Amino acid sequence: MNRTLVICKPDAVERGLVGEILGRFERKGLRVVAAELRTLGADLLARHYSEHVGKGFYDDLVAFMSRSPAMVAVVEGPTDTWRVVRTMMGATDPLKADPGTIRGDFGTEVTENLVHGSDSAESAQREVSLFFPDL
Ligand code: RTP
Ligand code: MG
Repeated sequence: MNRTLVICKPDAVERGLVGEILGRFERKGLRVVAAELRTLGADLLARHYSEHVGKGFYDDLVAFMSRSPAMVAVVEGPTDTWRVVRTMMGATDPLKADPGTIRGDFGTEVTENLVHGSDSAESAQREVSLFFPDL
C-alpha cells in the first residue's frame, strides 16, 4: 500500500468541512490510517513548507496555518496515492480549480484553500515521517 499526507487546513476545520473532505477520499477508495487535530507551530510549518520560506506569501501562510487546529491525516491507497489526492484537491488557487475538486467546490481564496496534499512520492514519504514519526 502507498501513503500520503493530507492536511485539512484551519479554514476547513473552522467551516466544518473535515468530514466532507476526508469523506471524498474515503468514497474514492482511499483509507484514513491516521488522523489528529493539531495546532501547528511555526517551527514545524517551516520544515513542512521549507520550499516556501522567504517567499512573499510565507508569513501569511504561517499565520493562517497556525491560527487554529488543522486535521492532519495519512491516507492510503494501492498506488500513487499522492497523485490521486492532488487531482481531487484541484489547483492551488480555488478560483482556477475545476468544479468537482475540493478547492473548486468550496474555496474562494488562494491562501485559505482548505487542503494540503504531498506533491510527489518523495514529499509524501518525508511529510508522513515529519507529522507521524511513529507510523
Ligand atoms: P499545499 O502545499 O498546501 O498542498 O498547496 P499547493 O501545493 O497547491 O501550493 P504551494 O505552491 O505549495 O503553496 C502552499 C500554500 O501556500 C499558500 N499560497 N499562497 N498568496 C499566494 O500567492 C499563495 N501562494 C500559495 C496556499 O495556502 C498554498 O496552498
Ligand atoms: Mg505544495
